[in-house]
This record gives sequence, structure tokens and C-alpha cells, in this order.
Amino acid sequence: MKSCMVQGAKIISTGSATPSVKVSNEQMSSIVDTSDEWIFTRTGIKERRLLTKYGQSVTDLATRASLQAINNISMDPSSIDLIILATSSPNDLFGSASKIQYEIGAVNALAFDITAACSGFVIGVVTAFQFISNGTYENVLVIGADVLSKWVDWSDRSTCILFGDAAGAVIIQSCSSNLNSILNFHLSTDGNYADHLSIAYKEQLDPHPILNLYQGSFQYVSMNGKEVYKFAVSQVPLSIMSCLDKLNMSTEDVDWLLLHQANERIIMAVAEKLSISSNKVISNLSKYGNTSAASIPLALNEVVELNQISRNDIIVIAGFGAGLTWGTIILRW
Ligand code: UT7
Repeated sequence: MKSCMVQGAKIISTGSATPSVKVSNEQMSSIVDTSDEWIFTRTGIKERRLLTKYGQSVTDLATRASLQAINNISMDPSSIDLIILATSSPNDLFGSASKIQYEIGAVNALAFDITAACSGFVIGVVTAFQFISNGTYENVLVIGADVLSKWVDWSDRSTCILFGDAAGAVIIQSCSSNLNSILNFHLSTDGNYADHLSIAYKEQLDPHPILNLYQGSFQYVSMNGKEVYKFAVSQVPLSIMSCLDKLNMSTEDVDWLLLHQANERIIMAVAEKLSISSNKVISNLSKYGNTSAASIPLALNEVVELNQISRNDIIVIAGFGAGLTWGTIILRW
């Protein structure tokens, strides 16, 4: 812990983990009435990874992604001050971050979960940034991880073809403010549309005979795809523009556009609205499907490993999804 002062923050390492089991669109068409042609043309997805091993959960993927980020820079896990796990598919409703803290040996870290679906990673990074910039913490591990395969109705073709399981992690470290790489952010929620995308808790009809209270269970993912699509294509460009405007930047200054990997048509429509050319768009959706909170750090780790990003590149990151919540971060790499 450090004393109160304004600090910069930068991403110093990345990691990711995916299950080994690949399920192609052709395989999906043996489960529900669909086709590779429908899935690929509507979404850009070719295959997804599913966590099929008995007893494995989001914690296992998140731990693997975290260890990769830690080992890439030979960091001592005990120097991590805070772990933020963005997930909407925890294996413990009280939170899964503390299990990861134990598994990676981050004995000095506070650990907690954030539930914000596909915007969770962006909100996690912004939260980490607050703790770093006010001088509270120096090293923060932010993980985006989801195993929505456990929450999907595998007989519902309108949702089950979309999702895949994965985890991605970044380590964010304080730095002098002139080296600050998180330049600006913007976050928004419109709860009026919460029902468009949810994993709702449903109460049983019969109450407890003595206490008269109702218990229940969580349902499957339900989504009004058309409405979520329209929301993403209209709100995400506005969020990005407001962030760039505040930095006196234009879309011409953007080197990379990294959006939540939900649908290739959404990604390209947003890029087109912003006049950002397709060769600046980061996309790995075809291989993994929509991995919810994991999609942004998973794609980021991939381009970092491929050495595609150069020092000082401007990266625009934007997440959107259930809530409905959306947000942008502008980074200088
Ligand atoms: O990560 C959180 C954010 N989520 C998103 O961003 C998702 C945003 N929405 C979408 O990506 C798209 O809305 C979808 C890909 C989910 C759906 O695409 P769409 O073009 O909006 O299709 P639709 O839901 O309007 O369905 C069109 C037709 C329907 O048939 P009819 O009524 O026209 O006869 C559906 O029953 O396609 C049918 N359909 C399918 N057909 C074959 C729906 N799912 C499938 C399927 N295979 N898997």
C-alpha cells in the first residue's frame, strides 16, 4: 500500500487460457437446428472452446490465465496488491476471486469479483486504475473469465451457438503519471433494458411452509439479440467518440480497435461508423465465439503474443453487454 498521490497506470503483462475442447459450427448443427452458413454469416463465429472436464470451473481458467501473466514477467505473486475477477459465471456466488488468490500464491492481495457480464473486464480495469491512481495499490491483477457454457440452454439455437469459455488476465502497475498508459475511460449503464440480456433468478411457486419465503434457482441465458445488437452499434461509437474528444484525439489517431467479441457484424459496423479501417480491428471471434468478460483480454493477449502492437500505439478498447452496460478505455501501449 502507498500513500495518497496521483499515479499513472500501465499494463505490464497479459495472459489467457482456453479449454482444449473445440466445437465447430458443424458439430453445433448436430445439437440444434442450425448450420455453419447461418452461424458464420450472422456472427463471424466458426468454432468455440468449451470447458467439458468434470469439476472444472471458471476458477481453473482464470488461474491459468493469471499464472501466464505473472510468469511472463517473472513476477513474485506476493507483490500483487489486488485481484479483480470479472465474471458472471462464478462457481461460488460469494465470489471466486479469493480461490484464485490462493491458487496463484498472491498472499498479500485483496481479491473480489465484479459482475458486469461482457463489460466486466473494462469495468475491472477502470476499477484497478482508481486504486492505482489514488496511490492505494501498486500491482493489480485484473481477470476477465466466463464459462457461459454452464449457463446456456443447449436446446436454444438462438443463444447456444454464440458463447464459448475462456479467461484473460492483465497485470496493471503504477507508474509515473507521464508514462501513464490508461489515458481516458467512459462507462455507462441503462438498466431500463436489463431484461434484454440476463440469467434471471426465478422463484419457485410454493413458499416455505412455515417461513412463507420463496426460494428459487438461476435460469439459462436469455437474450433479445436484435435489441442488444442495435444498442451496441448505436452506443459503442458514441462512448468511444466521447473518450477521444476529451483527449483531443480523433479516430485517425487510433492504431487498434479492440471491441468485445460478440459478433463480427457489430465489430465491423462500429469500425465503419468511426471510419477506422479493418486492418486496425482486432478480432479472434471466429476461433472462440463470445467469451463474455474474457473476450477482450483474450484477444489482447493474442495480439501481444504475436508482437502486433508497438510501443506508443493507441488502443481503443470497448465492452458492452448485459445491464445494459458499456464502456471504453483508451490506452497508449
Ligand atoms: O455479449 C453480449 C452482447 N451480445 C450481443 O452483442 C449479441 C447481439 N445480437 C446478435 O449478435 C444477433 O442478434 C444474433 C447473432 C444473436 C442473431 O442474429 P439476427 O440476425 O438478429 O437473427 P434473429 O434473432 O433475428 O433471427 C433470424 C432468424 C429467425 O428465424 P425467422 O423468425 O426469421 O424464421 C430465427 O429463428 O434466424 C433464426 N435463427 C437461427 N437459424 C439458424 C436464430 N438462431 C438460429 C440459428 N441457426 N442458430
